Amino acid sequence: MCGIVGYTGPRQASRILVEGLKRLEYRGYDSAGVAVQDHGALAVIKKKGKIAELRAAVPRDMPGTCGIGHTRWATHGGVTDANAHPHLDASGKVAIVHNGIIENYGALKEKLEKDGVRFSSETDSEVIAQLIARLYEGDLERAVKSALRHLKGTYGIAVIHADEPGRIVGARNGSPLVIGVGDGEMLLASDVTAMLAHTRQVVYLNDGEVVSMTPADFRVSDADDNPVDPKINEIAWQLDAIEKDGFSCYMEKEIFEQPESIARAFGGRLEPEYGTAKLGGLNLSRKELHAVERVRVIAAGTSWHAGLVGSWLLESVTRIPASAELASELRYRNPVVEANSLYIAASQSGETADTLYAMREIKRRGGTVLGICNVVGSTIARESDGGIYVHSGPEIAVASTKAFTSQLVAFYLLTLTLARMHDMSHHEGILFMEALKSVPEAVRKTLLLRDRIQTIAKKYARFRDFMFLGRGILHPIALEGALKLKEISYIHAEGYASGEIKHGPIALVSPEAPSVFLVPGDQLREKTISNMKEIKARGGPIIAVADEGDAEVVSIADDCIPVPKVDPRFQPFTMVVPLQLFAYFTALELGRDVDQPRNLAKSVTVE
Ligand code: G6P
Repeated sequence: MCGIVGYTGPRQASRILVEGLKRLEYRGYDSAGVAVQDHGALAVIKKKGKIAELRAAVPRDMPGTCGIGHTRWATHGGVTDANAHPHLDASGKVAIVHNGIIENYGALKEKLEKDGVRFSSETDSEVIAQLIARLYEGDLERAVKSALRHLKGTYGIAVIHADEPGRIVGARNGSPLVIGVGDGEMLLASDVTAMLAHTRQVVYLNDGEVVSMTPADFRVSDADDNPVDPKINEIAWQLDAIEKDGFSCYMEKEIFEQPESIARAFGGRLEPEYGTAKLGGLNLSRKELHAVERVRVIAAGTSWHAGLVGSWLLESVTRIPASAELASELRYRNPVVEANSLYIAASQSGETADTLYAMREIKRRGGTVLGICNVVGSTIARESDGGIYVHSGPEIAVASTKAFTSQLVAFYLLTLTLARMHDMSHHEGILFMEALKSVPEAVRKTLLLRDRIQTIAKKYARFRDFMFLGRGILHPIALEGALKLKEISYIHAEGYASGEIKHGPIALVSPEAPSVFLVPGDQLREKTISNMKEIKARGGPIIAVADEGDAEVVSIADDCIPVPKVDPRFQPFTMVVPLQLFAYFTALELGRDVDQPRNLAKSVTVE
């Protein structure tokens, strides 16, 4: 969602803050700002628009070595300079940046206004600054703690005071904050990518904790002032993993990284000797795993699509009933949490509020939840009972691509593990493993189709409505293809099960509404071909993604993308990549901002 960065040390703060914000821009990008301490006062610069606008507004020689910055994704109040963070209190002594939502800000604001406090923005966040200023009696940490007692809602905040040079106070409840421990300097950010250029030593703050830092030191405590022993973690990500590396944008880079990221996701986790997978982080004994009678995935967006593929595969291969549900729905429907059900929270960021809260609800009811996450140390990863890191490396583009295929790998590994405990023979396990090992090469070959896919994308870029159709394990891939196109090109696209089109969506078919068909390599191929003919008979243009050499499909479709033939259970990998490229090239053709599409945010930490 929004991004926070703070710096205190010997160096010029503004530069480090703006660079950090640039790294965080993918989290939210409608406005940004910095506040820096300078000789007993606070200098604030904030701007509507992208970080580039802020960068242009910040003087190169802006003095000050301690400050905080923020990149915003609006929740309360329109996108204006005044609503951008940091927010100052009325006296200009306290500056805060805030991620999350203060639910009782209306009542707090009313009370403060009655007491004569004048507000200068429409945001919920400003009440935090005003409240801290009112409670300040010469100790910022204490004032922050007192203020937090009045707040209801979620927050990750960073605060500075004009009278406390070099000090930053941070607090977290539901919105991530990470401390960066440098050599004679300290950082605070909502995301490690903002600090990777300066330090790899980080401490993750937990909900309810407060940090007070100076260049030389930091102290973590809980709301009641009990000290918390901080655990320092070493970040493995390399700085070049968050550079564009010669690609025009992050999404392009991330699509093309997939042969490597997929291989990384299963690297070191296959046991040929036993024809199974080795998942060290599950924290479940073989006995506990064997007792699993049902698997339920909870997730949002693209991760939900990975969960749909995963649950389809799990059930068909292991014969353990499995399903995937939208986290935002599960939490409020008073779910039955059965003993012997295994829950899986799938989330690239590990911070998605919907998924996190659904997971907590299940845990409160005694359920076991595993996390399938990309971001190491993220909240879902830390609060789950165990899990599988997908190791796709940092994913910066808002539209998820490589994290999706890596999440798929995690589900394939879990499937193999569970299947081998039940009906799958050693030999079948080896075949499954070999099929998985061949995926990176098949994806690499699929990526070679880029020029062909770009030509097709150019041809269809001006159409306003698309249908994406798939069956079986490819149905979620159709949903994902439609989502990718919507997200970055703003073209209306619907994903449907191809067998379902005759029950309604076929009414949309016309020469102006192309259908993208995913042709399965199994017994559903014939049925899919019949569905294609139904569309064709009604004048609908067809783009087909099918196994190479499928002449029949080529003869029916207007355009065909032939992908390498793989075991049909592994087709989600070869089929999703052309759809990612199709969305990417379409967005490019339409001149869209591929990495930072309008209205979206990478990690949605509000409900
Ligand atoms: C946001 C992003 C999506 C993402 C979803 C779930 O909506 O824009 O791309 O799929 O969140 O994110 P997660 O980090 O939980 O996978």
